[in-house]
Formats: sequence, C-alpha cells, structure tokens
Amino acid sequence: MNRFFRDKSFIVTGASSGIGRSLAMLLNRDGAKVTIMARTKAKLEQLNNMSKSRLLVCQGDVTREQDCKQAIQASIETFGKLDGLIHNAGVSMRAVAAETDIQTYRDLMEVNFFSMIYLYQQALPFIEKTNGHIVAVSSMMGRYSTQERAGYNASKHALQGFMDCIRLENMDKGIHVMVASPGFVKTNGSLNALTANGTPYGKMDDAIAAGLKPDQAAEIILSAIKSRKRDVYPAGFREKLGFFLSKWAPGKLDKILVKSRVK
Ligand SMILES: NC(=O)c1ccc[n+]([C@@H]2O[C@H](COP(=O)([O-])OP(=O)(O)OC[C@H]3O[C@@H](n4cnc5c(N)ncnc54)[C@H](OP(=O)(O)O)[C@@H]3O)[C@@H](O)[C@H]2O)c1
Repeated sequence: MNRFFRDKSFIVTGASSGIGRSLAMLLNRDGAKVTIMARTKAKLEQLNNMSKSRLLVCQGDVTREQDCKQAIQASIETFGKLDGLIHNAGVSMRAVAAETDIQTYRDLMEVNFFSMIYLYQQALPFIEKTNGHIVAVSSMMGRYSTQERAGYNASKHALQGFMDCIRLENMDKGIHVMVASPGFVKTNGSLNALTANGTPYGKMDDAIAAGLKPDQAAEIILSAIKSRKRDVYPAGFREKLGFFLSKWAPGKLDKILVKSRVK
C-alpha cells in the first residue's frame, strides 16, 4: 500500500486491458480516485466490479477530442480535482513500411500521438491547481526503432518530442511531466497491433509473451510518479541495452537489430 496516492484523483486511458488495467487497479489499491477510459465498456465495468472502491467508468475513444474532454470533465465533476493524467492507450503495428497503407499510419498517429494533445489541453488547467502529474506511456520504440513498426515508432517518437516540450513549458509551474518507455510487456499488444491494411495482427509474439507482467510494469511506473522522475523504463535487460547502444553505438545496434529481426 502506497500512501502517496491516497485520495489523489487520476485518469488512466487504455484502462480496459494490459498495462493501463494494472495501473488503474494498483492506483485503486493505493486509495486513489480513478477515472478509467477505453472504448470497451464491458471490460471497464468488469474492472470496476473487481475493484476495492468505485472507479469512474468513461467509455470513450481517445482519437475523439470530445470524448477526451468528456472524460476529464466527468473526472472533475465526480472527484472535484485532477492530480494526474496517465495517457496509456495505444496501438502497435506489424508491417513493413513500404507496404503499409497511409491510413494505417494516420490511425497510429491519431491513437498514439494526437490523443495526447487533446488530453493535455483539457487536463492542464486542473493539473496546474494540484501541481500534479502528466504521464505518457510511450515505448522503447519512442527511443529507438525496430523493423516492421515504422508508423508505431514514428508516433511514439512524436509523443516523446511533445512530452519533452511540455516538460520545459511547465517547469516553473511545479507540474511533473514523465515519459514511461516500456520494453516488452505481456499484454494483448501484439494481438491488437495493426497490419499493413489496418486489420489486427492477432498473434502473441514470443518477445511479448516473455516480457514483464503488466503489474510489474505498472508498479515501476507508479513508483516513478511518486518520485517525480523525468523518465522511466519498465523493461528487460535487452531492451535497456538497446537504448544504451542507440545513444553510444547506434551503428552496432542497427546491425544487431537487422540480424535479430525483433518481433
Ligand atoms: N505491451 C508491450 O510490450 C508494450 C511495450 C511498449 C509500450 N507499450 C505501450 O503500452 C500502452 C498499453 O498497451 P498494452 O501493451 O497494455 O496493450 P493492450 O493490452 O492492447 O491495451 C491497449 C489499451 O488501449 C486502449 N485503446 C486502444 N485504442 C484506443 C482508443 N482509440 N481509445 C481509447 N482507448 C484505446 C485499449 O482499450 P479498448 O480497445 O477497449 O479501447 C486497451 O485498454 C500502449 O501505449 C503501448 O504502446 C506496450
């Protein structure tokens, strides 16, 4: 039990599954007032029924500005304040860049990047009042790139750039801005990933299956929020080594990634 989160009001997007679901459950365990947003209402209701105390269920699509606005407003109306936004909703891809439809690229940018702008602009006035937290769940793919993820990598790099900018713009307001960059986490991420024409990939990748448990990743993210860290990397050794090499030996990393064809 982490007292830090007690009675704090957090909104978690993409809370119907995977990392977001774990974040919502653990925040609830720690006494936070949690607003959960995703498109699949039945899964949100199921989570609500399982939780220690009542969650605020907000069915919505983060690619719709109006839905993001409604979720923030509902959170304020219900809990009276907002201490943290954790934008976790996201979609990956599995397709080579040259064959991927432009619409699939646009869809990835909408979910993984533009949604953050909608949520940020709506949440900022409330988070200013609480000296709160603005957190994006990005990816190691926002730091370096592997194959067959061009649109995903681009969207997470865009998200990283946006967060790095708003950190500076809010530095003197006492707002904490953090990017979480997970490595492989065992979720439905690869099942839901988009193929070239936008249909779901539908397979569990070996690397994802062997990844961190969603609760482990969520605990690491929450602990970093508590410490007001700038960045956090819930990831295994290999992905962290990749990040290190991307900075200090990028040519070597390229060779490793071409050879290993990370899935
Ligand atoms: N798993 C990994 O290995 C891994 C690694 C690095 C980064 N990440 C990042 O972690 C985050 C969570 O992914 P996950 O692995 O937990 O995958 P997941 O199990 O597929 O969960 C994705 C969540 O996002 C929600 N979502 C997707 N599109 C949405 C939309 N348009 N509007 C609202 N919600 C939407 C989904 O809910 P609905 O379908 O109900 O809307 C679901 O709750 C993502 O940002 C992902 O990029 C994951």
